[in-house]
Amino acid sequence: MAMEARSRIVGTGAYTPAQVLSNTDLERLVDTSDAWITERTGIKERRIAAPEQAASDLALHAAQRALERAGLSATDLDMIIVGTISADMPLPACAAFLQKKLGAGPIPAFDVAAACAGFLYALSIGDHFIRGGTCRRVLVVGVELLSRVLNYEDRATCVLFGDGAGAAILEATDDPRRGVLSTKLYTDATLAESLCIPAGGSREPLSAAGIAQHRDKVHMNGSDIFKVAVKNLSQASRSALDAAGMTASEVTWVVPHQANLRILDQVAHRLDIPLSRFVINIERYGNTSSASIPIALDEAWREGRFKTGDTVLMCALGAGISWASALVRL
Ligand code: UT7
Repeated sequence: MAMEARSRIVGTGAYTPAQVLSNTDLERLVDTSDAWITERTGIKERRIAAPEQAASDLALHAAQRALERAGLSATDLDMIIVGTISADMPLPACAAFLQKKLGAGPIPAFDVAAACAGFLYALSIGDHFIRGGTCRRVLVVGVELLSRVLNYEDRATCVLFGDGAGAAILEATDDPRRGVLSTKLYTDATLAESLCIPAGGSREPLSAAGIAQHRDKVHMNGSDIFKVAVKNLSQASRSALDAAGMTASEVTWVVPHQANLRILDQVAHRLDIPLSRFVINIERYGNTSSASIPIALDEAWREGRFKTGDTVLMCALGAGISWASALVRL
């Protein structure tokens, strides 16, 4: 009997723009301090895209690096899924521009709007298409240009976020020892308005008055999100482990969404996994939303921290509230 097809990550890539915005730079823009940002979040600096760059430009670099790493070309892909809330334009999808820039064939290419959980949503969808036998290779991307949707007069948000892109190639495998073991996806809109961009959609189309009040920028009640983040990330991580019949002690690495070092510290405590087993780069990039997991994944891989057979747990939470987890054996 043929083995059930699984998906395996065969390449990753990341791209972060060259311009660095440090905490000290932000002290000149808003009433904040390097000490407050470092203590409350763990962030020291973040990257800002150049004016001529759009989401698909960042995504292109990350995707090309992932393809190169996998030894594949764009024409080998069967699907492109991009997790983003800061696409090039409201219409069409960032994935469509990415497909064209990569020179991929007329394959399905679409965006997933699950905010910070976008990469894990995209990974889960890609995994299901591979398991179902429809696709053999799927490009999964997380990309954000959050600097374009931030109000640099609002210290509660502008110090947190940054720009970047990360990508992974999923490929079908029948090796029972490796691949995506489980994914879990959740949304609960109880706190939908605690993290949102109020204007620019069908509820409140862009207007001069709305723009003057920064209603086209990110609004967040951070402490509301903080509390559910710790609880939901821990619960989703346990569910992914349960689904694979594994325990936290079997996890080699946790690659979490990088929103706040204090959140990660509390999740580590709840899962009883030491923080030393978490891949953390929040100090250099801040919160890059859907890009944060694939950037961290790629960095850890290139630094040689991962070994074949390692078990990697990923978890993310953001606007929606949407959250997700994934368990992968490398
Ligand atoms: O990735 C998407 C999901 N997002 C998240 O997971 C974010 C979750 N939330 C957080 O990470 C934290 O809630 C924040 C980092 C956003 C805020 O930290 P906090 O410890 O929850 O602070 P707070 O919002 O309760 O504010 C504490 C104080 C307030 O002053 P008062 O009212 O105590 O006088 C704020 O006005 O800190 C003040 N504050 C700042 N001070 C200096 C808020 N932002 C700043 C700032 N610099 N940038």
